[in-house]
Amino acid sequence: GHVRPRATPWWRAQQQRRQLLELAAQGTPRYVYHLPTVRERARQLKAVAALDRRYYAIKANPHLAILRTLVEEGLGLECVSLGEVEHVFAALPELAPSRVLFTPSFAPIAEYAAALARGVNVTVDNVELLRRWPDVFRDRALWLRIDLGHGDGHHRKVNTGGKEAKFGLSAQRVDEFLDVARGIGVRITGIHAHLGSGVENSGHWKQMVDELAGFARRIGSVEILDIGGGLPVPYSDDDEPFDLDAWAAGLAEIKAVHPAFQLAVEPGRFLVAEAGVLLARTTQVVEKDGVRRIGLDAGMNALLRPALYDAWHDIANLSRLDDARDVDFSVVGPICESSDVFAQRVKLPSTTVPDDVMLIADAGAYGFSMASHYNHRALPREDVIDDAQ
Ligand code: LLP
Repeated sequence: GHVRPRATPWWRAQQQRRQLLELAAQGTPRYVYHLPTVRERARQLKAVAALDRRYYAIKANPHLAILRTLVEEGLGLECVSLGEVEHVFAALPELAPSRVLFTPSFAPIAEYAAALARGVNVTVDNVELLRRWPDVFRDRALWLRIDLGHGDGHHRKVNTGGKEAKFGLSAQRVDEFLDVARGIGVRITGIHAHLGSGVENSGHWKQMVDELAGFARRIGSVEILDIGGGLPVPYSDDDEPFDLDAWAAGLAEIKAVHPAFQLAVEPGRFLVAEAGVLLARTTQVVEKDGVRRIGLDAGMNALLRPALYDAWHDIANLSRLDDARDVDFSVVGPICESSDVFAQRVKLPSTTVPDDVMLIADAGAYGFSMASHYNHRALPREDVIDDAQ
């Protein structure tokens, strides 16, 4: 397909730049989320006509303002722990439970029971649960997560399908599952799969719909096919931007083949990644054996993705955005770990000095939500900015 250039990021605009520098003056490290970008992504997803249900995977970023924005846009929410479910209802007490999905993995049984009592849609992904705790699930309508036997994603650590993955009922055990389910009056109304995160292969979701529809027919009572999340975002200029129109067209095509079912998705990253930046201050600028390093006051404690997945995030010197990016730097954090590196080699201005405000881009998904206190460092702060502020 054709490669469209990445859109100019929101934080390059004069007004937002100024706002970000003002926020950085109140302390770093600091995540800032741009709500108009969140809204724009939600509206793009709403325009995908083949979809009947859209849920936001809140693990990507459970910030209250983001949840409110997405719920206002009409999205539902997908949660993976009782903590996330309770966070959602504390923030949005008016939210109808039917707009919330609970899709846990190996969670304690008490979390399933509490989620069912709340009236949210619960997804199970093994038969052992029903066998061991029949009374928790008796006479319920549930969704079933299937392992389609293959996975995908931007890194092996986010691949959630196939034999090595802990997720989903084996396709080999569907009949056994249905026997046990029928025995306790459980009806399967939704069928779910999520094969990985940051999936570049655009044929992926179409194939999933087809495979899930096959299982749905076998089961009989299924109304909804949930194809998970995994929509990618372009983190670098070398990444081909995700072609949402082609994705939508593919879904429309495959939906026409299986018109009996509603189609659901549950992306996290797509909705929030590009809306977030991490602001940090330069601590020291050091040369060692020909390598120039910029140290930041944010490290893998604030944004784990580079250390955990070798993930790439663009980095800019926000204090000197108009200076030439003329020199290769390694950009590192203050954590006592060799993997505390944001970029081994990135062009940044040679004018960079301590105390400059540096910006790490596309950090709105799996940034703060994976942050830790490692090395006894404080969690980053968080702000949102909106239009007309
Ligand atoms: N649904 C289920 C069942 C999931 O497990 C996930 C993500 C999603 C939806 C949302 O996936 P998304 O659309 O955001 O790709 N920490 C990793 C990503 C882990 C994703 C885990 N599950 C990262 O930073 O790349």
